[in-house]
Amino acid sequence: MRQKQIHDSVSHTAGAAGIRCFMDVVAKEAEKYAADHTSPLSALLEEIEDFTLTQTPYPGMLTGRVEGRFLQLAIGLSGAQRIVDIGTFTGYSALAMAEVLPDDGRVLTIENNPGHAGIARNFFDRSPHGFKITLQVGEALEILGTLPDEQTDLVFIDADKQSYRAYYREAMRIVRAGGLILADNALWYGRVFNPKDDDSRAVAAFNEVVNADERVEKLFLTIRDGVYLIRKRASVGKTKGPGR
Ligand SMILES: C[S@@+](CC[C@H](N)C(=O)[O-])C[C@H]1O[C@@H](n2cnc3c(N)ncnc32)[C@H](O)[C@@H]1O
Repeated sequence: MRQKQIHDSVSHTAGAAGIRCFMDVVAKEAEKYAADHTSPLSALLEEIEDFTLTQTPYPGMLTGRVEGRFLQLAIGLSGAQRIVDIGTFTGYSALAMAEVLPDDGRVLTIENNPGHAGIARNFFDRSPHGFKITLQVGEALEILGTLPDEQTDLVFIDADKQSYRAYYREAMRIVRAGGLILADNALWYGRVFNPKDDDSRAVAAFNEVVNADERVEKLFLTIRDGVYLIRKRASVGKTKGPGR
């Protein structure tokens, strides 16, 4: 039932905005099957999901179960402990990541909408893992600019699409060699195949920058609306990548 709600609400949102739903790109049946065969997340994350689907006008922005579990596995497999989450929304990705961190692990999550930040903070305050999360309210690029070089293990990019290339530049600066960058919405509802608007062009251009960047290993995953999984090579040196 929950997954049906997700499909319906996302389809509705996408339709209302006149854009293709990502369910049109990755078959609805495959999405549902994937969700049904993925471990459920915590009760509080399910509550965030329910809240977001029923109480916010943008349920399609939610990361959700499959991608949330993917983030958790990426952290578990890589041993990441210092995480930056760009785009908090109702707090799902930040809390999903915090839940699998050891007590000395940390998530910095960044949100420029005080309303979204307030919702997320209420959920973080109710979680036994909330102490691992720092929520900073402000412009992501400004906040990223205050972070030190190569002291972050994993960056999750999930805010405004037009800044994706700038977020990538900052992520490459703050991530250590061997660290991970994950970018959500890399398919952008399939619009990257033939981009016709500014957001679609921005995501498509971001994908090309990453694809041409020899400083990283990359894997384009068709999870949900596309996740670009990027790993900074160990021997990056000071070589500049494309798109600067
Ligand atoms: C797609 S949602 C994030 C979803 C979230 N990661 C999750 O797991 O549900 C994007 C969020 O980024 C925020 N945002 C957009 N532009 C931003 C910016 N320039 N700086 C900081 N946050 C921004 C939006 O307000 C929104 O809450």
